[in-house]
Amino acid sequence: MTRTVYVNGEYLPEDEAKVSIFDRGFLFADAVYEVTSVLDGKLIDFEGHAVRLDRSLNELDMPSPCSKDELLEIHRKLVELNGIEEGLIYLQVSRGSDGDRDFVFPAEGTPPSLVLFTQNKPGLADNPAAKKGAKIISIEDIRWGRRDIKTVQLLYPSMGKMMAKKAGCDDAWLIEDGHVTEGTSNNAYFVKNGKIVTRPLSNDILHGITRAAVLRLAEEAQMEIEERLFTIDEAKEADEAFTTSASAFVMPVVEIDGVQLGDGTPGPIAKRLREIYLEESRKKAI
Ligand code: PDD
Repeated sequence: MTRTVYVNGEYLPEDEAKVSIFDRGFLFADAVYEVTSVLDGKLIDFEGHAVRLDRSLNELDMPSPCSKDELLEIHRKLVELNGIEEGLIYLQVSRGSDGDRDFVFPAEGTPPSLVLFTQNKPGLADNPAAKKGAKIISIEDIRWGRRDIKTVQLLYPSMGKMMAKKAGCDDAWLIEDGHVTEGTSNNAYFVKNGKIVTRPLSNDILHGITRAAVLRLAEEAQMEIEERLFTIDEAKEADEAFTTSASAFVMPVVEIDGVQLGDGTPGPIAKRLREIYLEESRKKAI
């Protein structure tokens, strides 16, 4: 089935959708994005993603392409038109184009460009990878200093995934000044003696929407949480580890740099948090 996508006010078959070759997202990675998951044909944490999108736009002085209500309507319409029961919606806003390449931002009033498309992923919640757990490698974090803004500068994260793949692993965790920042496309956690440890929010990491929900649910379940810097060696000595993201929810980690965690299968806290998160998300989905 050909996907129906959304481009600047129009719903079109994917092969008819067009953006300018001068679009600043294309030429300068001058664009921000969001990925929202869909379960049971409904949006997970739409509000959180809409608020973070607004923040990303504000931090970059980029105009907003439309209201939150309009965004919600576009998301819902794409889910319906593409018959998505489980999957993802990708949204990208770029600073648009004034018809040429120029480092200087285009004149005020230049409309931003808004693109959304769906990714159909049946079995996203029941992902077999989550039952096996992920193997990760650690690599240096050489990304820019504003990782709290969700920009489309994803070359290095993409290279990190390829480095992991080459090493026979699933993903990479990024290290800066001896401490883990986050995964290539997820937030990172380890668990030792029942305590969940994760890096505190700052400009160094993306403020994950799944992170916020999972930490809230962990707290409600009386789990102990510590937000602090941590090293990869601490994570290697942990009882278990996991990542969170809108695309993989809570993903257990079973190996770091060749070191097996626990008995090499997903740990009880990661498994429990995945269950609670999915259950709660389904209840609150809109
Ligand atoms: N990535 N950290 C980074 C660097 C990310 O790219 C992501 C999400 C996260 C988790 O954020 P959230 O819980 O809001 O999804 C953390 C998305 C899923 C992606 O690029 O596909």
